[in-house]
Amino acid sequence: MTELPDGDRIVYLNGEFTPLRDAKVSVLDRGFVYGDGAYEVVPVYRRKPFRIAEHLARLAHSLGGIRLADPHPERWAGLIAELVARQPFDDQSVYLQVTRGVARRDHAFPANVTPTVFMMSNPLALPTREQVERGVRVITAQDTRWLHCDLKVTSLVGNVLMRQLAVDHGAVETVMFRNGYLTEASASNVLIVRDGGIVAPPKDNLILPGITYDATFQVAKAAGVPAEIRAVSHAEAMGADEMWLSSSTKEVLAVTTVDDAPFGNGTPGPVFRRVWEAFQAMK
Ligand code: PDD
Repeated sequence: MTELPDGDRIVYLNGEFTPLRDAKVSVLDRGFVYGDGAYEVVPVYRRKPFRIAEHLARLAHSLGGIRLADPHPERWAGLIAELVARQPFDDQSVYLQVTRGVARRDHAFPANVTPTVFMMSNPLALPTREQVERGVRVITAQDTRWLHCDLKVTSLVGNVLMRQLAVDHGAVETVMFRNGYLTEASASNVLIVRDGGIVAPPKDNLILPGITYDATFQVAKAAGVPAEIRAVSHAEAMGADEMWLSSSTKEVLAVTTVDDAPFGNGTPGPVFRRVWEAFQAMK
């Protein structure tokens, strides 16, 4: 079995802070039985959650999208602050999830059930120096997931299969295309660079509206890099000067190998270097 995090680590479950080893959920939890829940991953730099308001707004959007009432909209920031304070490390990755709760198995929503709320925080595992300096390898595939990819929900088997495909090929991500257009990767957004400017697909139902995607656009614009949001065809993506991944745990990362062939000139491009530096200064 893969090594589990330290059992002494303090997590939050349904109103209580408790060591991980004591946090237990019923096998009838709809998160377990149906993947019926929503989640967030919030990066924390030097004990300060990054763009917390934006993450909580997206959680509200995801919960609304699956018709699950937010159990305590006004308490999230305080609970996250307490969880962060209880960890022995400064840079963290807070994971939180809300499921529809414990009920007799039936697809339809159960009546009068209390949602399950779980939160944990792990050390923030950012890309290695080598990954930043040399770029990473991705493969490409058809996007076969459902049509509500804007919702950050715990039913992730579509993304899990895509990520495993990448691992099977010694790559860090699978970059997906739907009907000939770029969508995103299994756990990150994808941006390209053309003629010195960033282009990325619109935040519609086909991609997760990434908080890092927004942050990248912001720092790029502030650094004087043109940035445009529009549909990106397969041909345009594959012929781009640069390709980047963005996510809370990858920040912004250059892709230098696609489907076993060097991408662009095979090293992180000049626009990436500029925006990566600006991102580090901003975070
Ligand atoms: N994943 N697209 C998908 C499918 C994702 O799962 C993620 C993040 C992103 C990037 O979103 P953000 O910039 O807000 O992290 C895009 C997180 C990190 C995860 O599931 O672990």
